[in-house]
Amino acid sequence: MRIIVSGICGHMGKEVVSASLRGYRGAVTVGGVDIRSDRGAEIPVAGGFAEAKEIFGVGEADCIIDFSHHSCTAELLSFAVAKGMPAVLATTGQTEEELALIADAAKKIPVFFSANMSLGVALLVELAKKAAAAMPDAQIEIIEKHHIRKLDAPSGTAIMLANEIQSVRPSAYTVLGRSGHGKRTPEEIGIHAIRMGNIVGEHEVILGTDTQTITLKHEAHDRALFAEGALAAAEFLIGKGAGLYNMHDIVAD
Ligand SMILES: NC(=O)c1ccc[n+]([C@@H]2O[C@H](COP(=O)([O-])OP(=O)(O)OC[C@H]3O[C@@H](n4cnc5c(N)ncnc54)[C@H](O)[C@@H]3O)[C@@H](O)[C@H]2O)c1
Repeated sequence: MRIIVSGICGHMGKEVVSASLRGYRGAVTVGGVDIRSDRGAEIPVAGGFAEAKEIFGVGEADCIIDFSHHSCTAELLSFAVAKGMPAVLATTGQTEEELALIADAAKKIPVFFSANMSLGVALLVELAKKAAAAMPDAQIEIIEKHHIRKLDAPSGTAIMLANEIQSVRPSAYTVLGRSGHGKRTPEEIGIHAIRMGNIVGEHEVILGTDTQTITLKHEAHDRALFAEGALAAAEFLIGKGAGLYNMHDIVAD
């Protein structure tokens, strides 16, 4: 499969290129988009999606993979829709307006959108939902830890975990951090963000009652796992009809 990498000069963009150079899932990176231009000459890189329309002709790629910045969501989706190209969106931190654009684009092209491209995290989500449903009285807290370069907090994955838990516990609501006076309510799902050093990514879901505690934890050891997950998502997405897909679809398949 031939892919275009949005954010190709960034940490994750480079991981996607490395994985494709290793031949992971038979991927070949045919182009990139980035507002920086330190990629080198071996892969054509456009400075934006308007320019990309001229550099990459229709049919030159099977899928676009995005690890860039949420501010380019509108441009990226209009590029993908114009080309009828499946899009794997791994970027996090989208605004409500950008999330609405993603939902709209998914009516026209296949879109894979996940705040965490790790298969292990997809399993963590399933286990957390199962535990939350089985222990309706348990207090639930989520702790996430990431490197100090990360721009958004809490992580998209922590928000996704809370949303998924809410799907089996409709009365729950999220509280970011905890401060001030007053007791914790039983419906709270606390989310706590830690930024430290070079931590790749850790997510911990703690469920506790007066008599027992369950801790479910996923640790990413190497960013390459997200690149591999994004390429697995691209492989899954190519040939699918329009729609919004996520890691659950891969785990359930
Ligand atoms: N879904 C996942 O599993 C997962 C995993 C890791 C990171 N991420 C997300 O991926 C994104 C990128 O992470 P990173 O660590 O590679 O960041 P990074 O800052 O190292 O790289 C981002 C790249 O995007 C480029 N960029 C910024 N604005 C752009 C625009 N408008 N058009 C084109 N390119 C643009 C930057 O120049 C940079 O090269 C973040 O949102 C991060 O949270 C998601």
